[in-house]
Amino acid sequence: MSKLLSLHAREILDSRGNPTIEVAATTQYGVVQASVPSGASTGKYEACELRDGGKRYNGLGVLHAVKNVNQIIARKLKGVDVTKQVAIDQLLCKLDKTNDKHRLGANAILGVSLACAKAAALCNGIPIFKHVMSLSGAKKPLLPIPVFNVINGGAHAGNDLDFQEFMLIPVGAKTFGEALQMGAQTYHMLKNMLRESYGKTAINLGDEGGFAPQLKDHREPIKLLLAAIEHAGYDGKIKLGIDCAASQFYQKGLYHFEGRGVSSEALKNLYTDLVEEFPIVSLEDPFSEDDLDGFADLTQIIGKKCQVVGDDLLTTSVQRIHKAVQKRACNALLLKPNQVGTLTEALEAYQVASKANWKVMASHRSGETNDPFIAHLATGIGCGQLKAGALARGERVAKYNELLYLEECYHLRLASWR
Ligand code: PGA
Ligand code: ZN
Repeated sequence: MSKLLSLHAREILDSRGNPTIEVAATTQYGVVQASVPSGASTGKYEACELRDGGKRYNGLGVLHAVKNVNQIIARKLKGVDVTKQVAIDQLLCKLDKTNDKHRLGANAILGVSLACAKAAALCNGIPIFKHVMSLSGAKKPLLPIPVFNVINGGAHAGNDLDFQEFMLIPVGAKTFGEALQMGAQTYHMLKNMLRESYGKTAINLGDEGGFAPQLKDHREPIKLLLAAIEHAGYDGKIKLGIDCAASQFYQKGLYHFEGRGVSSEALKNLYTDLVEEFPIVSLEDPFSEDDLDGFADLTQIIGKKCQVVGDDLLTTSVQRIHKAVQKRACNALLLKPNQVGTLTEALEAYQVASKANWKVMASHRSGETNDPFIAHLATGIGCGQLKAGALARGERVAKYNELLYLEECYHLRLASWR
């Protein structure tokens, strides 16, 4: 009954106007579609996103990946039981035969993996988050606290901010709807303040829907966010997160930060002071992906007050998480399915991180589609946190709106910030 009748991939565009892959899976119950996001500040240990090269779409076409689904994967998977996610994902890895999935492409493989998961939910007559629950063994679904990236810098914006993301975390919300409203009102307050103080160019948006003002240093956006929170009436109820994405400003032993070459040690002191001075509860990729010692030293100092999140550091890879657990390099995982290439491997990464008592934040990519899968993923595993960009742009609010729908239709509880 839950047999895969056919798979079909096509090339579509992501939110930056670059090609990505969409996969349709057909069973007796109908057709479902899944699409794959794409990063700009990608970690060097991520699985390989297969791009065509050449002139077409500046080399970013995905027609090879599409062909790999339509000609290789579709034939092999025809007739499989879509509810057997682990077996499907193992077969995909075996077909690819490489560690980083460069033969078939992690983008091709993830599109198929997610399409099968959606098909299985449809066959079983359950929402996707419930299917994710059964795959992950979670006992209770939980709506994630949304983490809103409202000031964009780094590789996501045309300004000079070195840190990539300045985020609002509505820790004081009781329901998802309330968290969303708190975020949206603060986002609009911030917009007014930016326009008044810096002129209308300051309210241009970056890739994830946050504002991309030309500010002079990292403290200015932090102070602006705190002022916006206060004016919106949410003092103490919204805390801050920063994604430094430090691999992007690291080169040959030094961090090139705000016009100076800074050592790992000096950067550690800067972070320690920031967390001391401001209500920052989440700090992501404060050091480069290979600076495990920098991560470990900082986690030891601030780890009780503030989660230290590994994104490029961990790339949702079980091996890299094990290594980081051993070195006590961080205490939270950023969970991005496309960094590893199958749903099963992403769920394994989640399990390993939670066994180590780490926090887990599910995440979008800077190049997104309207697929709301990660909203179901975060809810189904009950990890408690989801970052999906600002409170604007369709591909970002698609995730938040899906969570509103889940809250209303399934009466789910919002996670609390622990
Ligand atoms: P990316 O950014 O999708 O461009 O990698 C998101 C992040 O760094 O968390
Ligand atoms: Zn990141």
